[in-house]
Amino acid sequence: MKNSKKVLKRDKETKEAQIEIENIVWGGKGIGRIDGKVYFIPKSVPQDRLLIKVTKEKKDYGYGEIVKIIYPSPYRVSPLCKDFKRCGGCQIQMMNYKLQVESKEKMAKEILRRWLNKAKFNSLLAMENPFEYRHSGEFHIKWMGEKCLCGFYEGESHKVVDFENCYLFPKGFNSKIKGIKNFVYRKKIEGISSFNLSSGENEEGYIATFLVGENDFDLKDFENIQKEVDLNGVVVKSKNGVEILRKGECFLTYTIKKREELLPEEIKFKVDVESFTQANFQINAELVYEVLRLANLSSNETVLELFSGAGNFTLPLAMKCKEVTAVEKCEKAIEDSKFNANLNSLHNVKHLKGDVKEQIRKLISTSEKYDLVLLDPPRGGAYEIIEGIAAFNPKRVLYISCNLPTLERDLRRLNEFGFFAEEFSFFDLFPHTYGVETAVLLRSKNDKN
Ligand SMILES: C[S@@+](CC[C@H](N)C(=O)[O-])C[C@H]1O[C@@H](n2cnc3c(N)ncnc32)[C@H](O)[C@@H]1O
Repeated sequence: MKNSKKVLKRDKETKEAQIEIENIVWGGKGIGRIDGKVYFIPKSVPQDRLLIKVTKEKKDYGYGEIVKIIYPSPYRVSPLCKDFKRCGGCQIQMMNYKLQVESKEKMAKEILRRWLNKAKFNSLLAMENPFEYRHSGEFHIKWMGEKCLCGFYEGESHKVVDFENCYLFPKGFNSKIKGIKNFVYRKKIEGISSFNLSSGENEEGYIATFLVGENDFDLKDFENIQKEVDLNGVVVKSKNGVEILRKGECFLTYTIKKREELLPEEIKFKVDVESFTQANFQINAELVYEVLRLANLSSNETVLELFSGAGNFTLPLAMKCKEVTAVEKCEKAIEDSKFNANLNSLHNVKHLKGDVKEQIRKLISTSEKYDLVLLDPPRGGAYEIIEGIAAFNPKRVLYISCNLPTLERDLRRLNEFGFFAEEFSFFDLFPHTYGVETAVLLRSKNDKN
């Protein structure tokens, strides 16, 4: 980058300064330097020259916000969304998509720099159309006097941004959000704090799950929402997670199509709205194929899969190996996974319902061994179970992660137990956000392959 090393002038009184943005970091903020010190600037683009106001100073770094764009980056674009400035649903819609992809790759390489010279890094798989890719989202509702706000939170706050249209979702999805919002507004239903809206692949069937507080509410209203907005199903839950109402068909469906040399038959999924599904069906399918390629299973091998959900990886893996043992704590997800195994005539899956730590402890006591351990933990990662994974003495570990910093920490831990990162693949599951999905294959020092 041309000017990134240049010391930029700073006005101490107003705490305003000029800065040139170098790249984005985890969280989506751009970074630049003033007198060698790093500053994090939201909604800035690599190669922007900005006038910023310093909002927070720490000893080694600081935060700022844009006062003026002095020279816009050549990669700066007008975001489609008119609420982008405030809404926390996206962080980088003002970057052209090609640069988003390059910047995410650069960010991933920076976070995983320890492994750069030791492992193969594949390019990040981008989307052809980086809009209208999501099939599921969580929307907050807040009453401000007579006004009902509905949308995502502002970045780093709990203020609800009442967006008009979210371009990450298909048009049909947006009209369902509007339908729900209008109903809630007209009927003045004040007890809802948020709702999740999900649909199956190709927008087949919409299901809404409403989270309600202590306030009085009339369950009849939710039955009427279902009819008026034409939803396949409606669930009402209290804030402590207890289901109060379930009406209609509360599941979604998707398919992973067969792919030559990787997946010999297509796999159908039917998943309860309470179970986890990846929010981007198209890139999820690519992730599944890549998992199969990296796993490179032979028909006599066994797999232990941790955090297995409704069987998204379990069933494709089962098609390629002797047996998969799948561990998952969500009751609905385990039921789905069993149902989907039968639906696809896969009878070589053992399902264990419970906490992974507890199930690992039980499996170790039976001296079970596995050729491959696959794990796909939530964003907090899996640090505390790595010692347990090593106890199975697997030849390979395949780690799927939605959080690069916790992945990096866990890879160091796996390394301490003799597992070496061999190949990384990256996926743009969430265009316009800083998110990167990663699949990394590790090999045990004991594997002679
Ligand atoms: C990121 S999702 C992955 C699910 C699945 N692999 C997929 O691709 O759809 C993580 C899953 O881990 C489950 N989970 C979270 N914490 C768990 C724990 N401590 N023990 C077992 N399962 C857990 C969640 O219910 C969720 O289904």
